[in-house]
Amino acid sequence: MPIDEKSVQATFERMKEKLAEFVPETELRAKAEIVHKINRLKKERNAVILGHNYMEPALYHTVADYVGDSLELSRKAAETDKDIIVFCGVRFMAETAKILSPEKTVLLPAKKAGCSLAESITAEDVRELKKRYPGVPVVSYVNTYADVKAESDYCCTSGNAVKLVQQLDSERVIFLPDEYLAGNVAKESGKKIVFPLKTAAGLRYPDPNLEYAMIGWNGRCEVHEQFTVEDIKNIRRQFPDVYILAHPECSPEVVEASDFSGSTSAMIKAVREVNASRYLLLTECSMGDNIAAENPNKEMLRLCSVRCPHMNEITLEDTLESLEKTQYVIEVPEDIRRRALRAVERMIAVV
Ligand code: 13P
Ligand code: SF4
Repeated sequence: MPIDEKSVQATFERMKEKLAEFVPETELRAKAEIVHKINRLKKERNAVILGHNYMEPALYHTVADYVGDSLELSRKAAETDKDIIVFCGVRFMAETAKILSPEKTVLLPAKKAGCSLAESITAEDVRELKKRYPGVPVVSYVNTYADVKAESDYCCTSGNAVKLVQQLDSERVIFLPDEYLAGNVAKESGKKIVFPLKTAAGLRYPDPNLEYAMIGWNGRCEVHEQFTVEDIKNIRRQFPDVYILAHPECSPEVVEASDFSGSTSAMIKAVREVNASRYLLLTECSMGDNIAAENPNKEMLRLCSVRCPHMNEITLEDTLESLEKTQYVIEVPEDIRRRALRAVERMIAVV
């Protein structure tokens, strides 16, 4: 079908108004044509596009029908009546959408788009933990693959982890795989946490007779583990009035030294609601641009040396190709999906 030049021009004007500060005009012009094609194809194919808060500004503000954090997008995936879900995020998010909506075609625009947390634990690791600590419920962060979710009793996101742990019937919980999120949840809910120790001879598991309330794992987010208390001190020295927001995948020390901690959407909401001279987000850099585009009167400081290589794999070009070629289709074996569904449904039920 020929390109409607008038509509492309109108798309370009809208993008320029919002994004001129972040994307050069020549690039915006080229992207406007891609945006136009995606939005046309999306209608033709009866597709919905879900965009995580970390998507690049030219995608986040143009083609996504819904944007949000992992929890909000999981809920959208469960509710949609469209035939196709294009997940502009990483693989574990697209898998979660497939677990919730098995009758839909779920597409991830990049072949891999992994996550260091999801890769830090296997289903076999979870089975070993369950053997060592029988009867202790397993809560897995949504940043895990479907086979790990299938071994878990509950899933959670950074948006509802504390609530979920506090609502459990059990005093004890195995919380996987993010060492730092687990540490932050333990701190907020006043629980003592222990971790398996990495030794030359392999993992040394905590004694099950120890006095503990949470058992964690040694996974870390390769992005958030890079922020340090020293960074915060330096920034505060230079900008004493800065308001610092840290994602709970940052270390408990970094969260403690910050002014606010919450999921990506909670951070966006906090910037909207808190009146400060300037803000610093300790999370993936694109989100700062997305917030700045929506709040032109708020000054955002950037730490853009820290990027998530996996989220950055998703581009407008790939999203178009994904719709054109129906790629990459996310499949979850039915027996794993059914077992994982229980944990994921429990996750989206916690408000
Ligand atoms: P949110 O659920 O807060 O969006 O976090 C997802 C994530 O991967 C952060 O690194
Ligand atoms: Fe995974 Fe970290 Fe990237 Fe989030 S930012 S997708 S936790 S690697």
